[in-house]
Amino acid sequence: MCGIVGYVGRSEAAPILLDGLRRLEYRGYDSAGVAIVDGDKVETRKCAGRIAELGKLMAERPPTGTFGISHTRWATHGKPTDQNAHPHFDATGRLALVHNGVIENYQALKDQLIRDGDRNFSSDTDTEVLAHLIGKLYDASMAVDPGSNGKTKASLPNKKGRLVEAVRTALRQVIGTYGIALVHQDIPDFIVGARRGSPLVLGVGKDENFLASDVSAIVAYTRDAVYLNDFDVVAVERDKFEISSVAGEAGNYQLSKVEFTDADIKKGDYPYYMLKEIFEQPGSVRDAMRGRLSHEECTAKLGGLNMSPAQLRDVGRVVLTGCGTALHAAMIGEYLIEQLAQIPTEVEYASEFRHRNTPMTRDTLVLAISQSGETADTLGALRESRRKGYRTLGICNNVASTIARESDGGVYMHAGPEIGVAATKSFTSQVAILTAIGLLLGRMRHLSTSEGTRIIDALEALPDQIEQVLKLSDQMKAIARKYASVNGMLFFGRQFNFPIALEAALKMKEITYLFAEGHPSAELKHGIIALVRPDLPSVFITPDDAVFSKNLNNIEQVRARKGPVIAITSGTGADRLAKIADDIVTIPAVPDYVSPILTVIPLQLLAYHLAVELGRDVDKPRNLAKSVTVE
Ligand code: AGP
Ligand code: GLU
Repeated sequence: MCGIVGYVGRSEAAPILLDGLRRLEYRGYDSAGVAIVDGDKVETRKCAGRIAELGKLMAERPPTGTFGISHTRWATHGKPTDQNAHPHFDATGRLALVHNGVIENYQALKDQLIRDGDRNFSSDTDTEVLAHLIGKLYDASMAVDPGSNGKTKASLPNKKGRLVEAVRTALRQVIGTYGIALVHQDIPDFIVGARRGSPLVLGVGKDENFLASDVSAIVAYTRDAVYLNDFDVVAVERDKFEISSVAGEAGNYQLSKVEFTDADIKKGDYPYYMLKEIFEQPGSVRDAMRGRLSHEECTAKLGGLNMSPAQLRDVGRVVLTGCGTALHAAMIGEYLIEQLAQIPTEVEYASEFRHRNTPMTRDTLVLAISQSGETADTLGALRESRRKGYRTLGICNNVASTIARESDGGVYMHAGPEIGVAATKSFTSQVAILTAIGLLLGRMRHLSTSEGTRIIDALEALPDQIEQVLKLSDQMKAIARKYASVNGMLFFGRQFNFPIALEAALKMKEITYLFAEGHPSAELKHGIIALVRPDLPSVFITPDDAVFSKNLNNIEQVRARKGPVIAITSGTGADRLAKIADDIVTIPAVPDYVSPILTVIPLQLLAYHLAVELGRDVDKPRNLAKSVTVE
């Protein structure tokens, strides 16, 4: 959540910072700002609104200088106003800081600062308190130079060390989460960064270095990155950097190569990233399976799990966890793992997991699912599981993300960067990977070689079938137009497609802002039917499968009450629905356990086209942000 970019080098910082923010805008977009040091003066520009507004402000009065920091905000404390936009300053206005996360004890820290005489707060944010605290500690350390018996001011090299020390001392007092970057006008070519719970990556260049909350901000400049760990503090200069811990110990680091390039994060000819990402699904599902299916052994090969055959065989229970779309993938995973491997499986909202005392057996395997690999709630669930000694696996898209690094093993999605706030291609990759995990666990147990082969064939056929489903885009657009004036939609499905009803409703809510709900079809008669009326369409996800005729009964119940019906079906479904559904969308007939990967696509397209029809900002929907790193 929120974006941070920092630069120190020989080029003008302003265009690099602004360009980085544009690439991070999907992570938060209610206000933005930069602070650039020019000579011994720190210049700031900040305002409420999108990055484009900041761009205008910077074009009117371009700040110059070769090092600085910038931020795009997703407000947690204080409204998205000019005043609350980051960077925030210390009481003297010489230190500027940007922050991602939440300082939970900010009020207590603020009260103490006020008691100590600091009255100079100008925002409602938690962040400003941290800037004041670090500034105060730094100024106090500069007031005397212990090396000269308190007689002279600190020398320049010492200033860097003292600023880092002030950051450490302040962070030791902080309860909460942070990714921060800060500059001080008295210390040229120097940025300090630190993280706890919010991602921060160092980009290593030639005679220039970068800090960012997400590598996509800096991949145009360098692909050499150091992913910082929690409690790391990094001092960054043009030609060097030093990593230590908040406690003051020397830090270890590993230089990694970013696996994608700048070209991968371009929108190309698509009007929105979301549409681009929907259309990337034949390739992303293929990449999720690439090299992972063995015809010879009729099973999946998932080396990243870091589990021996004996360990896999001994799994007695699976807990799947995640948030939002990833949680819906987890719900399909529950059906899959139980059906294919007969292992008791449960799904837990990551955000609730830690607050419940879920009884777990020793042989429980915890799978955390997260596109970003940074979602605070999911990370919290993962850490709690690890703390209790359970084996944990991550299914992540972002390589080297915190969840990927902190899990005992996992499976990368390899879906490429997902920029649209509404998750699409990551979902289908997650479900494909969960099918492969179900296959692997099943083959360690009762699943026969012929059943294994059938599943592999079904997975391998998916990319071509997704191509066919994408051809339905125009039909989905026509349906979106037909229902453009409705106030909401209901979604129903059973079995593997019940989570698709939830996912379709989430997509609809996120990007159209229409009221939408997803339910198991049979729940209709237990209450939801009271909502049915001619201006509230019901979408039934009902491929031609074992539960088709049950769905048919529910559709009849809606029809009897004059509710419009849109049906997503397959095989002979269209014929059987002809008289009772208003709109019928037909996808290829596939085995039931892979059907959600196909049924979700027309519904992603329906939400997309309806959002466009309603004039919504599809990639940056209201109040949302990609990658939610606050709890
Ligand atoms: C999906 O469209 C949402 N924007 C959101 O629910 C998302 O899936 C959720 O926040 C989890 O994100 P993650 O996969 O990065 O952990
Ligand atoms: N808590 C800070 C604020 O509200 C930072 C939010 C963010 O991560 O963007 O300003």
